[in-house]
Amino acid sequence: MKRKGEKVALLTAYDYPFARIEDEAGMDVILVGDSLGMVVLGYETTIPVSMDEMLIHLKAVARGVKRSMVIADMPFLSFQINTDEAIKNAGAFMKAGADGVKIEGGREFIGTIKRIIDAGIPVMGHLGLTPQSVKKFGKYRVVGKTEKEKKKIIEDAYLLQEAGIFSLILESVPSNIAKQLSGDLAIPVYGIGAGPYCDGQILVSYDILGLYEKFQPKFVKRYADIGKIAKDAITSYIKEVKEGKFPQ
Ligand code: KIV
Repeated sequence: MKRKGEKVALLTAYDYPFARIEDEAGMDVILVGDSLGMVVLGYETTIPVSMDEMLIHLKAVARGVKRSMVIADMPFLSFQINTDEAIKNAGAFMKAGADGVKIEGGREFIGTIKRIIDAGIPVMGHLGLTPQSVKKFGKYRVVGKTEKEKKKIIEDAYLLQEAGIFSLILESVPSNIAKQLSGDLAIPVYGIGAGPYCDGQILVSYDILGLYEKFQPKFVKRYADIGKIAKDAITSYIKEVKEGKFPQ
């Protein structure tokens, strides 16, 4: 698709019904993101998300998908401690139905990423704002505005490509960096808050559907307000039960 100049559409899903809807709608790649922790499980950050939680939701998504590629996000501390554990956890995702895994970070994890790929597991990289490190960044913010940050993102992207990742996500980076890397790297580069020049775009499904109100990044476009539709429907149900109108 990159060679043909065809843009890739990616979106997160966390359960069977949304996986089915996205798959049937023609989504190219479905990410079972660790954003699960915030938008579905109600945590403040993605840091508390566990392998067990990811596995339950990955299995539900895999059951709903017939044709999309399914990528599972390696949660905090599932790959950072040591390489053996990282391979075991990535392997558990593959056994649960993933087509590959996503790992946040660059040079710090190159050795681990190489070993996971050597084990036959495709890896998607993730640079820029890496939410598992939000406490290090201080807040959710654009990363890559300073020369030092820009240099690190670009160097890490090349190191990851060399290590063998099949694609790269750039989150909350200036669009000029995303443009440069999308043009120069052989692998596809997918953006989230990284401007229009990437080989594809990814967003959090609950953000574009109006299902998560707590925090809305500036770059999100809301395509529907399902949260409001659901609330109106539930309010009508309550009213009809209270008034004895349902069941008839
Ligand atoms: O967890 C997630 O949903 C992600 C995307 C925002 C890229 O990592």
